[in-house]
Amino acid sequence: MSLKKNMVVSIVMGSQSDWDTMKQASEVLELFKIVHETKIISAHRTPERLYSFSKGAEKKKIKIIIAGAGGAAHLPGMISSMSNLPVLGVPIESRFMDGLDSLLSIVQMPFGVPTATFAVGKAGAKNAALFAVGMLSINNRLLSKKLNEWRRVQTESVKLRPI
Ligand code: RP5
Repeated sequence: MSLKKNMVVSIVMGSQSDWDTMKQASEVLELFKIVHETKIISAHRTPERLYSFSKGAEKKKIKIIIAGAGGAAHLPGMISSMSNLPVLGVPIESRFMDGLDSLLSIVQMPFGVPTATFAVGKAGAKNAALFAVGMLSINNRLLSKKLNEWRRVQTESVKLRPI
């Protein structure tokens, strides 16, 4: 999805190889009709892009940033270091340690630079998007109703016994 007016969520990721995971977040936001953009920003390979995005996000009226990265996963924390917007970090399943390296890189932020951290992989990407929907629904009754309905359907889909 390209840049549009009234963008409220930005989904960023360290590499094209993260898209398979991060598109799950985009699909959840689409379900709730949350206008969002998607971008590749590597903390290590494109540091200037990282800087201009982080410094400019608030001015663009973005409210929440979902950031996925794997391995030496500095992207979410570095964005947090340059922006007051809430950053929801998604650790990508990595080749070397199945994402444990990504998880620890994102979760162990020092005091003063908070960065939320979700589960490794696709569940984390989807939950980060649901969390963003939850935050946005605080000031939006229609969105809040939609989220309640989504949860009701989820609950009812759980069978009493295995088949
Ligand atoms: C990180 O390095 C990315 O977030 C990605 O998960 C990982 C590997 O990147 P590629 O080598 O696949 O581009 O920066």
